[in-house]
Amino acid sequence: MSKSTDELFKNVISHAKEYGFVFPSSEIYDGLSAVYDYGQNGAELKNNIKTYWWKAMVQMNENIVGIDSAIFMHPKIWKASGHVDGFSDPMIDNKDSKKRYRADQLLEDKIAKYDSEGKTDKAEQLQHDMDEALKAEDLPRLRDLIIEHEIACPVSGTRNWTEVRQFNLMFSTQMGAVADDADTIYLRPETAQGIFVNYLNVQKSGRMKIPFGIAQIGKAFRNEVIARQFIIRMREFEQMEMQFFVRPGTQKEWFDKWKEARLKWHLALGTNEAKYRYHEHTKLAHYADAAYDIEFEFPFGFKEVEGIHSRTNFDLSQHEKFSGKKMQYFDPEVDPETGKPYGNYVPYVIETSIGLDRMFLLTMINAYEEEDLSTDEKQDSRTVLRLHPCLAPVKAAIFPLTKKDGLPEKAREIMDKLKIDFNIQYEEKDAIGKRYRRQDAIGTPFCITVDHQTLEDNTVTIRHRDSMAQERVAADQLDKIIGDLVSW
Ligand code: GAP
Repeated sequence: MSKSTDELFKNVISHAKEYGFVFPSSEIYDGLSAVYDYGQNGAELKNNIKTYWWKAMVQMNENIVGIDSAIFMHPKIWKASGHVDGFSDPMIDNKDSKKRYRADQLLEDKIAKYDSEGKTDKAEQLQHDMDEALKAEDLPRLRDLIIEHEIACPVSGTRNWTEVRQFNLMFSTQMGAVADDADTIYLRPETAQGIFVNYLNVQKSGRMKIPFGIAQIGKAFRNEVIARQFIIRMREFEQMEMQFFVRPGTQKEWFDKWKEARLKWHLALGTNEAKYRYHEHTKLAHYADAAYDIEFEFPFGFKEVEGIHSRTNFDLSQHEKFSGKKMQYFDPEVDPETGKPYGNYVPYVIETSIGLDRMFLLTMINAYEEEDLSTDEKQDSRTVLRLHPCLAPVKAAIFPLTKKDGLPEKAREIMDKLKIDFNIQYEEKDAIGKRYRRQDAIGTPFCITVDHQTLEDNTVTIRHRDSMAQERVAADQLDKIIGDLVSW
């Protein structure tokens, strides 16, 4: 990371804390690693991102419905899905620092170092060796590579490594009062399984016809071996997932549609297209027949924000096997080739899965600007969040010019009307300029000032966040002006 991007990232993190977007969890107890709390503005922004996603999925598609399944699920579900046996990372400990690392991450960091030093051959060879070892699940080989390439612990600087072990990422806990093995349950590591196990309930109760989708937003938990880069890799995070159930044989067509639709959703927020790219998975998970990530260029490089996966009928077939219950759908449509109904089958699934917290960080980084406003006469600057107005935590701030002459009362009267439809903030402390800066810093698109003229003709000044231009408008027009810009 170059110094300026490194600095930019640090500035965004401290801005997020200073202005009530994201706080480290349990901060007064020195925090809890890789867990974060969303503050007053963060919660609003997060809700707005959820709304944008939910509307794009559920409201705009008549064949997609939303559910909210429980975090706790029957433990057999995680056996069926493959998470009990296969959802793990190769882990290694440094004996001196007692710090734990992901073996593949240590190797990837070394590959990046070789690359940055221009040692391309070495980087390519190590990448190849690591991929082979991971594919073969050859844990001793991963350790050998760490030793061969003289990788030292970033904390102790020593190369005193333990064996590599598989570390399951699921958090487990006990259900009920008696703590024996039978009561072990897991915190879900993805929301998707809540959709799979409910797919027939939704299909039957909603009389859904294939192709149809089920969407869900909810918490997921992973005991990540290393958690870094702020809210990019957390132990408790939120996913927005949609499973789209299709007729076998049509999955490629739907995969391509969703891949394109999802990137469009991102770009509709006005983000620079060059900041996004697709990454095709060449090594596919055993259940997938195609997979792409949508990656965003964060200050520390391109990182996955969303995955689009063609999961075949793996999950539903596994649940059929483990639960003993039929997971088939009866398709009454006539196959033009045979002239008969398609009949019973286990549907194929296209999944779109986006991390809400990563989307949140992407949005913050994209919106954050330290703008130089200096003129010949004076030095000036502001930090502004150029958030899409639909996502802005506060839609308008209302300021009485002074705290007397009935201006606060008039300002509150205007606010009371607007707050029915919009999240409005009232501020009367400090000079107007300072109040503008505070609102710029949280991305409020409009600041409305009530002055003495307002008492005479019921007009106010409205100041626009991005251009900083001000205009005088009738107070009665405010709901339309704000609504035009912030409505979905
Ligand atoms: N159901 C598929 C699934 O869970 P995934 O690629 O493991 O796929 C989907 O996760 C998305 O969830 C990722 O693209 C990422 O945005 C987000 N995500 C995954 N692990 C995360 C973590 N530890 N912290 C924050 N977000 C995470």
